[in-house]
Amino acid sequence: MDIICVNDYEEMSEKAASIVVEHIKQLSKPTLGLATGSTPEGLYKSLIQKYQQNQISFKDVTTFNLDEYTGLSKDDPNSYHYYMSHRFFDHIDINPSHIHIPNGKASDFGQECIKYDEYIRKNKIDIQILGIGENGHIGFNEPGTPFASRTHVVELAESTIQANSRYFKNIEEVPTKAITMGIETIMESNMILLLVSGEKKAEAMERLLNDNVSEDFPASILQRHGNVKVIADKKALAKVKDLTRVLC
Ligand code: PGA
Repeated sequence: MDIICVNDYEEMSEKAASIVVEHIKQLSKPTLGLATGSTPEGLYKSLIQKYQQNQISFKDVTTFNLDEYTGLSKDDPNSYHYYMSHRFFDHIDINPSHIHIPNGKASDFGQECIKYDEYIRKNKIDIQILGIGENGHIGFNEPGTPFASRTHVVELAESTIQANSRYFKNIEEVPTKAITMGIETIMESNMILLLVSGEKKAEAMERLLNDNVSEDFPASILQRHGNVKVIADKKALAKVKDLTRVLC
């Protein structure tokens, strides 16, 4: 696991965008795994800028999002479909048929999960963008999720519902379930780019580096992946005492 230290959110986003662009340019048919939430918003802004400056095209890029709430339609402003269209896809030259996000309104969630996972197996994700939850979740894989999990429906942890309620009118509106790529699905990505910013993530960052690998802290599995880059800002690294592994 390479840990790259940056000053702040802007620098984290810029650095992540440069890594993504560099990789896309090297691949004939790149496949990106994408995340939502506050963390990758700056990355998407920076990628849009690079597209506008003709530094990169997304014509041949295929994408798979990590997760989607169940019960929200694609045009619900709180759905991750809506988030991705408004914050990224509507502003770049990606082919809409190359975009994949779990369908939160599927009539059969079991089938939806199997289908989604099969697409990912066939396409193999080159770079998976990840954030980390304060409780160590990756995607919506909450503590206790088996490391061998594939794409599945999850019951969201109370702390996740609480954290995500900032986007909704009130906490009752936050869906309690979601479809998420499983931990094993995520771990099959060739490279994982984990972005960590802000003091709220400082404890999770410390645990990521120092906890034993355990299903109680899902992100700990990343220690076993051979190609993980963590870009963390100074606030996120504030609780890490031993910085010898950190590239500053
Ligand atoms: P955030 O969420 O980027 O909104 O902090 C990250 C996550 O919960 O995985």
